[in-house]
Amino acid sequence: MTTRSNAPAYLTGFGAHVETEAVAGALPVGRNSPQRHPLGLYAEQLSGTAFTAPRSENRRSWLYRLRPSAQHPPYRPLAQGQVRSGPFDEVPPSPNRLRWDPLPMPEAPTDWVEGLVTYGGCGDAATQGGVGIHLYAANRSMVDRLFYCADGELLIVPQQGTLTLKTEFGVLETPPGHIAVIPRGVRFRVEVEGPVRGYVCENYGAPFRLPDLGPIGANGLANPRDFETPVAWFEDVDRPTQVVQKFQGRLYATTFDHSPLDVVGWHGNHAPYRYDLARFNTLNTVSYDHPDPSIFTVLTSPSETPGTANCDFVIFPPRWMVAEDTFRPPWFHRNVMSEFMGLVHGAYDAKEGGFAPGGASLHNCMSGHGPDQASYDKAVAAELKPHKIENTLAFMFETRWVIRPTAWAMATPQMQLDYDDVWRGFAKGSVA
Ligand SMILES: [Fe+2]
Repeated sequence: MTTRSNAPAYLTGFGAHVETEAVAGALPVGRNSPQRHPLGLYAEQLSGTAFTAPRSENRRSWLYRLRPSAQHPPYRPLAQGQVRSGPFDEVPPSPNRLRWDPLPMPEAPTDWVEGLVTYGGCGDAATQGGVGIHLYAANRSMVDRLFYCADGELLIVPQQGTLTLKTEFGVLETPPGHIAVIPRGVRFRVEVEGPVRGYVCENYGAPFRLPDLGPIGANGLANPRDFETPVAWFEDVDRPTQVVQKFQGRLYATTFDHSPLDVVGWHGNHAPYRYDLARFNTLNTVSYDHPDPSIFTVLTSPSETPGTANCDFVIFPPRWMVAEDTFRPPWFHRNVMSEFMGLVHGAYDAKEGGFAPGGASLHNCMSGHGPDQASYDKAVAAELKPHKIENTLAFMFETRWVIRPTAWAMATPQMQLDYDDVWRGFAKGSVA
């Protein structure tokens, strides 16, 4: 473990057991829960896996705080806005390929929680399988207000504007090009300095982890040392603070008489983290063919079926394309897995237009998709020299479960009603 000197400071490593204290002595020595804490803090364990999960899977942290988390009045229902949760059964799932224009920025003052809009998802928060897929568009910081999600961990992909995530564990600066992951149950506030927009994968299933590398070897893709966990940070605020939680698909709120971002020190392996996607060690063919996009997997949430993810987080970063005698863009395909895509910036190499930063597409189980006509024509005519795809960052949430859109997603004016047309003009193939 190393501590970086810039503020906010981070510890490096993925899923490592770390310890950090904002005040010397906050971490008891040799005991997780001594009879009396040396400074007078309250000890609390946050379990991200069952107590009995195998050691290789087990995630938990010990937090030392000014007040117990338990000290609060009852939660009451809060207006739901456009937040939805599994089971996603508002409308029948569409068999069609779907695409949306960018989510518009709000005109009224809107914080991150108010700006969450659910596009769809799969599985069920109650049985802890599947994902919820949300976008957010906001323009003001959360003030005296925190959020946590009891239904899953949150993988946040900023598309525009930096998010300052002030969490119980510390502060994560998360600009576009980075991702942040907030474990289930961890309370946080989102601060912004202007309009922000991005994507959220709410993972109901097993926590995201690094994929196995198999024959790739010990290095490559996302390297563990590049994941950053915040050092302990806390605020001592005796001011009413609203805490909003998402529980079983509904929002609830209560008001603490203090800020529960009051963890003075913590240790463990269950904590928020961020990752700079520019550090992804992208691998690709150096001979022929377009490999399966699984070579671009950053994080995976496994299901009970080996190799069949509850959710993979996959990126399409800048990279060299050198394949010989190959149709280089993503090929036409039909996939048992379901694919929700977003674009942080630039252009995606299978679409010449229509898939804009802040937009989204959904290609569900067995729907035929692939390059649009313009991309196809360009690729088959191209002289195949080494070529670098630059200034682009697309990503995909890919899941074994069919992604069922919300009623909002099917009715919004951002839905592109003519999306099928991008595949309409292909000339008939020849057997000659
Ligand atoms: Fe696809």
